[in-house]
Amino acid sequence: MCNKAIFMQGTNNMVVKDVPMPEIKENEVLIKVDVVGICGSDVHYYTHGKIGSFVVEGDFILGHECAGEVVEIGKNVKNLVVGDRVALEPGKTCGKCEFCKSGKYNLCTDVEFFATPPYHGVFTNYVAHPEDMCFKLPENVSNTEGALVEPLAVGLHATDQGGVKLGNTVVIFGTGCIGLVTLLSAKAKGASNVIVVDVLENRLQVAEKIGATHVINAKTTNVIEKIAELTNGRGADVVIDTAGAEITLKQTVDVVRRGGTIVLVGMTPKDEVEFDFMKLMGKEAEIKTVFRYRNLYPTAINAIASGSLNVKDIVSHEFEFDKTKEAFDFVAGNASDVVKAVIKIK
Ligand SMILES: NC(=O)c1ccc[n+]([C@@H]2O[C@H](COP(=O)([O-])OP(=O)(O)OC[C@H]3O[C@@H](n4cnc5c(N)ncnc54)[C@H](O)[C@@H]3O)[C@@H](O)[C@H]2O)c1
Ligand SMILES: [Zn+2]
Ligand SMILES: [Zn+2]
Repeated sequence: MCNKAIFMQGTNNMVVKDVPMPEIKENEVLIKVDVVGICGSDVHYYTHGKIGSFVVEGDFILGHECAGEVVEIGKNVKNLVVGDRVALEPGKTCGKCEFCKSGKYNLCTDVEFFATPPYHGVFTNYVAHPEDMCFKLPENVSNTEGALVEPLAVGLHATDQGGVKLGNTVVIFGTGCIGLVTLLSAKAKGASNVIVVDVLENRLQVAEKIGATHVINAKTTNVIEKIAELTNGRGADVVIDTAGAEITLKQTVDVVRRGGTIVLVGMTPKDEVEFDFMKLMGKEAEIKTVFRYRNLYPTAINAIASGSLNVKDIVSHEFEFDKTKEAFDFVAGNASDVVKAVIKIK
């Protein structure tokens, strides 16, 4: 068996290199990677070389949304066998800190997360990963859907944080991959009205196709007035910002109902942004935040398998492994055309 990986080498440049076959530890399995999604964060590292304080140094393998097949198991592995197809949860945590012990392992400070420097990602043929972070895919869930479990888990966590439930009216700012999986999650949890806002018409069309009840183009419509009209002046039970724009963050408090919940998912370019806390207080609304997800892979996989949400509808482009650089250049240059691109490794 030979193993190759695609490394970013400086910004906007990639090279293919032979790499050693990973050696598995007793509790790990060896995965032949099949499908890897291209995430906005991968593209940002590719074009800028860093995200906040995470700086890419030297040649670096991107990719953290993946699924593949188990080809070898460590001697203490109990629940997986060779031939199983699995989705890989990308963060290895310490298991010992108060956050890990309380189940909020996404808050562990010792996490090793695929494609977050200095830890390499999965644009490679083979990767070793702990058994308990590999989740078996049922026969009716494809590897592409398996790769999409990662962003879907963000959407599920965002709607959990917002407490979305049956009959709710939900507003989602942003219909990129994260906004769309949040929409699918809100619908699957029984939200009656899901109003989505973006500035890109093609993404709004996808949102409509996968279940948004109203779409608003912020370029041509006054968002606050329109949402007031659609909710008879009441506002939304839950407002989720996945756009990460200064303006959308500000608008969340205008469109949330009295006593409602705002959930922040999108990352604003600036750390500090203006926000009307007095308006928030006057509504006794609350703000929740999202950092990745926790304990959601089994839920996400079961939901896909049962047909509760159709995540594959958001894939707009597929590329072969040897076209990974072309894929990144395309995604970086055509944000408005691409909803979600995936790379087929095999
Ligand atoms: N908190 C977390 O754990 C977490 C996890 C994953 C992603 N994220 C963040 O979530 C955000 C969304 O990720 P994505 O991959 O979907 O990104 P994306 O860039 O594809 O989507 C953002 C969308 O917001 C839209 N937008 C921009 N300005 C707008 C405006 N004024 N009104 C309405 N919509 C507007 C854009 O057109 C785009 O479609 C990013 O900021 C990303 O960094 C956070
Ligand atoms: Zn991602
Ligand atoms: Zn920990």
